[in-house]
Amino acid sequence: MAALTSKEKKKIQKKILQLYAEIERHNRLYYKDSRPEISDFEYDCLKSELLHLESLLPSEMGKIGIGDDRSGNLLTHKHHVPMLSLENTYNLDDIFDFDARIRKLLATEKNIEYVIEPKIDGLAVNLIYEKGQLKYALTRGNGFEGDDVTENVKTIEDLPFHIANVPDLIEIRGEVYMDDEVFQEINTERASAGEIVFANARNLASGTLKLMDSEAVRLRHLKILLYGMGEGNCLEKQSEVYPFLRNLGLISQTYYHVITNLDNIAAIIRDFDRERKQLPYATDGVVFKVNERALQEKLGVTAKAPRWAFAYKFEPERAETILRSVTFQVGRTGVVTPVAELESVYLSGSCVARATLHNADDIMKKDIRIGDTVIVEKSGEIIPAIVGVKLENRPENGLEKLIFPKNCPHCSAQLIRLPEEVAWRCPNADCQEQIIQKIIYFASKTAMNIDGFGESVVRKLIEFGKIKTPADIYALQKEDLYLLENFGEKSVSRLLSNIECSKKTELWRFINALGIPSIGEKIAKDLANHFYHWDTLAVAPLAELERIRGIGRKVAQGILNYFHDSKNLNLFQQLQKIGFEFEKITAQYNPHFEQKVFVLTGTMQQFTRNQAKALIEKNGGFVANALSVNVNILIAGTDAGQKLDAAHKKNIPIWTEADFAEKLTHIAP
Ligand code: IVH
Repeated sequence: MAALTSKEKKKIQKKILQLYAEIERHNRLYYKDSRPEISDFEYDCLKSELLHLESLLPSEMGKIGIGDDRSGNLLTHKHHVPMLSLENTYNLDDIFDFDARIRKLLATEKNIEYVIEPKIDGLAVNLIYEKGQLKYALTRGNGFEGDDVTENVKTIEDLPFHIANVPDLIEIRGEVYMDDEVFQEINTERASAGEIVFANARNLASGTLKLMDSEAVRLRHLKILLYGMGEGNCLEKQSEVYPFLRNLGLISQTYYHVITNLDNIAAIIRDFDRERKQLPYATDGVVFKVNERALQEKLGVTAKAPRWAFAYKFEPERAETILRSVTFQVGRTGVVTPVAELESVYLSGSCVARATLHNADDIMKKDIRIGDTVIVEKSGEIIPAIVGVKLENRPENGLEKLIFPKNCPHCSAQLIRLPEEVAWRCPNADCQEQIIQKIIYFASKTAMNIDGFGESVVRKLIEFGKIKTPADIYALQKEDLYLLENFGEKSVSRLLSNIECSKKTELWRFINALGIPSIGEKIAKDLANHFYHWDTLAVAPLAELERIRGIGRKVAQGILNYFHDSKNLNLFQQLQKIGFEFEKITAQYNPHFEQKVFVLTGTMQQFTRNQAKALIEKNGGFVANALSVNVNILIAGTDAGQKLDAAHKKNIPIWTEADFAEKLTHIAP
């Protein structure tokens, strides 16, 4: 290649500096704030562009570190052996280059034995056991010292605090993650509580690990998978690490291959890409590790990464489509969510027509415009996200810029952003749209379940001034409903009767319907099980609320605040006059279920997950997400995986679908 002119060098230097700044910003968002604005793939693209430019100007090399996750508000502690990063690629051919480089460094023609294992999309932790006791759990931090998250890591079920027959000082490493199932459930609960959902399990796991309140962490059911060791590693091969850790009672990788050549590597990776979707944690690639530790030592490490390991990462699935419009929706809690309406497109097995643009800053920065060709990405369980714009497709005369509103699109109040929140909110409690959304929610399926009282009915009745609060629903008269379009005598009396019927319902529905911040269906059920009567809930002290299974301090405080607000108290008093009749929670008494905690796994033929859950609850049981000492029975459908193995190990009784169906029919007199 011809030597660079000084003008070209200057240009490259400038671009390198820009990339440094950009990458450092994304490092901060990803590691420190657990709030990335771009996908891992986009981030890796920036890094490989930087590497390419650095290779053109070797004097500029290596200024970017490995990121730093220290949050600044936790104590830190040093790792005995540094925790490094991994070199990675998205290109299969590069695997052969990595292998060639390793053989060159070792000056050998022979094949190298590798272990290949899943790359878990969680966050790295280092467990330091001193004299067999778990002394510290640290995040990777800057590689040399990390945040002390010991108390939070100790909430992980199945992680032993003591291990026997190990050196006085031993470092065990792995990844903290959140089960896809738990993640989905937390998001469902958040959506039902009117809050912004988390983008993916990794961000939620990493945000959770850094919380200051371990009890709140415990409720998030974090998990850990261990795959490596730092100080105190006396083993000769990487492949011995996993059985060694498992013998100590730790949870380690069970999915790995030892390969002696790269002949079938493309097929092995293809198979893994298929199978990884069945694993309970998110994976974003495979990690190759030289198996012999003696060879690892010979190869050593660079400032950023070991020379004996590398990762091949899977490209996320993407598609191009047109952005038709963006709506700024105001929810019942005032949160403003931009929603992208897309020309529908097929992606990872489903049809995508909408994408939540949950990050307002990001759309503005990407300068997305209506009519643009956008790139939609879905990786793992991540909600479809718009990750880029094809500027080359934008018409010559340009398109109109998209502007995130500064004011509520409905009531014009100036939007606010609370400290430490990403969401913009309309602060006006009298905002018509919030009121409409609150009433829609009140009548919805998981709340009072008033059939036929949907969005269009609510909007019309508000418009005609017939309702202003949920309590007004119960004062509606025949002539009010005749105002509705297409409502004849039959539909009017049906709707009135549905309203009347809703007065007799389960208590949890009513609690959920109130729309207390942070409370959705699940917590409403926990509260209903505890209080039996709503009056006692309204006056419950903080300490009592916090003692309830499934409720943390933040939620408890939210409930207290709700019942101290005069507007809410007003509504509450109005509702008290209506004469609701709440059925006892355990309508049927079934000794096989009553007071027992169940976990569901695998697929059932006759019941969906939700049906099974509802039946268990109806018969007096509880459903938990994860196995723990409190779980009494695991119900396993077909294709049950890890949970079934774990239940066997823990001697937790297991029911098949047939057992479950049979027990349901057993109702005590
Ligand atoms: S080995 C020093 N094995 O990937 C060798 N890392 O991109 C590096 N990771 O910080 C660790 N799954 O958090 C290793 N099976 C696995 C992994 C894994 C995920 C993470 C780890 C590391 C990051 C580097």
